[in-house]
Amino acid sequence: MDEVKAKEFVSRIAGFYNGTAITLMIDVGFRTGLWDAAAAGPASSHDLAQRAGLQERYVREWLGAVTSAGIVEYDAASSIYTLPPEHAHSLAGNGGSNRAANAPLLTYLGKHVSSVVSAFKNGGGVPYSQFRPEFTGFMDERFRREYDQFLLDGYIRKVPGLEARLESGVSMCDIGCGTGHNINLLAKAFPQSDFTGYDIAADAIDLARAEATKMGLENAHFEVQDATDLPKNLAFDLITTFDAVHDQANPQAALHEISRCLAPGGTYLMIDIKASSKLENNLDNPMSPYLYAVSTMHCMTVSLAENGAGLGTCWGQELALEMLEKAGLTDVDIFDSTNPTNCIYVCRKP
Ligand SMILES: C[S@@+](CC[C@H](N)C(=O)[O-])C[C@H]1O[C@@H](n2cnc3c(N)ncnc32)[C@H](O)[C@@H]1O
Repeated sequence: MDEVKAKEFVSRIAGFYNGTAITLMIDVGFRTGLWDAAAAGPASSHDLAQRAGLQERYVREWLGAVTSAGIVEYDAASSIYTLPPEHAHSLAGNGGSNRAANAPLLTYLGKHVSSVVSAFKNGGGVPYSQFRPEFTGFMDERFRREYDQFLLDGYIRKVPGLEARLESGVSMCDIGCGTGHNINLLAKAFPQSDFTGYDIAADAIDLARAEATKMGLENAHFEVQDATDLPKNLAFDLITTFDAVHDQANPQAALHEISRCLAPGGTYLMIDIKASSKLENNLDNPMSPYLYAVSTMHCMTVSLAENGAGLGTCWGQELALEMLEKAGLTDVDIFDSTNPTNCIYVCRKP
């Protein structure tokens, strides 16, 4: 055994554990409003607790964690804590740059370790129903800000000609729409077009409908609908899936249905994880550990729970192109989105 290598690895393990523990603190800061309170300016633990309406003792311990992690700065002489603006940019506010919004989804996965371990031993998986209803809200929280800020520039405008088609009036369907925030934003931005959102989750569809009503939208409709059994006689000009193929029980059947429900000349945008199907090609991607881990804890297991394909997040471009071709979608271009973990497959139906 190489003693130096072994010692270095112990430090790396400590780094992993620190990262996990601080993810819990990022979550606490997000849910309590402490990041926004800290972003408002330097403060003592007492002032910060008062600003956020929280218990000072808890706030001080949390500050100990996030200060020693290098997120917050501390002046011992004055007992003042400062969240630098460069860090506040990624932790506070309602913009798409707020990465703290991802923490509740991650910490929630921790609750399911025992069930996933049981699936490692006995097969099967942890079904979507076991992740709900909390998953729906955490997923919405994670993506809502991103769609608010980047849906047009990061996705729609990345695809040549798409914005003009939406402006001129098309029928669009988003499958696996979750709480449908992206559809509601598009329905508002493009009143000439008509939008439908499908998801198997009734709680998500209820929230999507409620938001459409609140926004006064008449061109956004939502239905509880399985992607593998879409209604007959549909002909959408545009179909999208936002991170909603790789976790399906039967993704190939869903792709066949999508292909069938596209009008001639229609376009399918499959927004999914940017990865290779081969592990060796993903090793340079700094997000790969995260992607494979989230897959183990959620995306793959929900599919395997239904005796499904269990593609996992890193099913990759090679397999994706094969499966699209099997579904009759052979004219495919791949674009980057603003989210570095995603790419956009633009598939045209002849
Ligand atoms: C990872 S979430 C993405 C949600 C949403 N597109 C977003 O960007 O926030 C995947 C969604 O696909 C839905 N889903 C999974 N299997 C489905 C199926 N067979 N038919 C329809 N929706 C499905 C899930 O309920 C979930 O809401």
